[in-house]
Amino acid sequence: MIMIENTKKLLEKHGQAHLLAFWQQLTPPKRQNLLAQIGRLDFAEIDRWIAEYVKKPESAAIPPDFAPAKSYHFNPTDPEQKRKYAQAADLGRQLISAGKVAAFVVAGGQGTRLGFPGPKGNFPISPVKNKTLFQLFAETIAAASKKYRTVCPWYIMTSPLNYAETVETLRSNAYFGLNEKDVLIFQQDTLPNFSHDGKILLADKDTIACSPDGHGGSLKALYKSGAVEDMKKRGVEFVSYFQVDNPLINIFDPLFIGLHALDKAEMSSKALLKTAPEEKLGIFCSVDGNVTIIEYSDLPDELAHKRNPDGSLVFEFGSIAIHIITRSFIEKLNAKGFALPLHKAVKKIPHIDPQGNLVKPEQPNGIKLESFVFDALPLASKSIILETPRSEEFGPVKNAAGVDSAESAREMLIARNAAWLESAGVAVPRKPDGSVDCIIEIAPGFALEKDDLKTKLNSIPEIKPADKIYLA
Ligand code: UTP
Repeated sequence: MIMIENTKKLLEKHGQAHLLAFWQQLTPPKRQNLLAQIGRLDFAEIDRWIAEYVKKPESAAIPPDFAPAKSYHFNPTDPEQKRKYAQAADLGRQLISAGKVAAFVVAGGQGTRLGFPGPKGNFPISPVKNKTLFQLFAETIAAASKKYRTVCPWYIMTSPLNYAETVETLRSNAYFGLNEKDVLIFQQDTLPNFSHDGKILLADKDTIACSPDGHGGSLKALYKSGAVEDMKKRGVEFVSYFQVDNPLINIFDPLFIGLHALDKAEMSSKALLKTAPEEKLGIFCSVDGNVTIIEYSDLPDELAHKRNPDGSLVFEFGSIAIHIITRSFIEKLNAKGFALPLHKAVKKIPHIDPQGNLVKPEQPNGIKLESFVFDALPLASKSIILETPRSEEFGPVKNAAGVDSAESAREMLIARNAAWLESAGVAVPRKPDGSVDCIIEIAPGFALEKDDLKTKLNSIPEIKPADKIYLA
């Protein structure tokens, strides 16, 4: 009784008394459930979020002074750099072999644009065998462990909304050949959803509407879940961070890992050369000497279009959410406490109205808050950027059709496989317009990178137009 009175007072003080609107109708277990959810909320923080994010326009203030960030080109540009790249790639291979590099996929998103039921990692993507994203990653990790004669552990971040299904997928598929003890699945936090006027929404009479706290939540979740502690026990020093929707990811890239380690960076990134000023990628900038990403929507138009005398864009590098993060950086952030900024997204959020009726909005009606992992870049003492060719490493599956869809990602996988084979001297049929005239899938166990094909040439059959080829 006292507890509910205190809760009522607390909610009134923070303008959220409506959370108890259905209290009288709830059974005792449902009351406990609601009280527990309310008890987990930090209302002082929530007041700040409402003032700073919920009630403010979507775009963030950009720093007063910034310049394009420096990056490494994918090919060394002079003899000295050539030596450095060779040294870095060697070091990268040594670090992987020594078990110091872990794979880390963020898979806690809701994948609303794709509209696929269940975890996005279950989406079938490979061009011939229709393997899922999770299976491709698992096979890549198994192949890297074999190639480097080590055990590469895999950390999977889920959200409370897809944790159970993700665990079930991995379990029922026998971890796709990996050892169960080397696959750690954990959950990120959630944040409450708001109406435009800053009221927390109820998903049900006893349930607060919540959504995952963004991929930036990974830096806390890795720590809170015990994943970082597990890495420490295993001797893992570097985390290879990637998104669940990029089947082209090169999880164990010796050059990237090695450059990051050689330069003693704490959090590094891969970058793409933008195809056009309007391309929707966060832009790598330098602010007071720190690498910072400015969202494409926040970069003023004239800067997005600004060109160098040679015609290239001044702000030419976009972020593709591929990072190497040093484990000790995650420990340091968490030990001293940190808070990444939140970003506001206006979304369709099902909720109950004051009469208790379920509303499934047709139009965006509420606000979700998320933190972004790249906002940790300026907190790193050192951060390098390595450019990567788009065709090699970035084919995101975001939408059901069109740009960044399963179809475009599959085409990119086929095109990359064809290019790898051709660079190894294998003839690949092409149509008059230059596109690949066959369907090729290369299993990660067959080749993790194009150089691996050199030793496999005898097991590659002749490829004819319209063939379906699976190399495993
Ligand atoms: P997206 O920004 O594409 O979001 O996530 P999403 O939720 O998957 O998809 P939409 O916007 O609803 O269509 C990029 C990556 O970050 C992960 C996603 O799983 C994906 O790998 N992510 C995103 C999380 O792990 N947690 C989150 O809270 C948000």
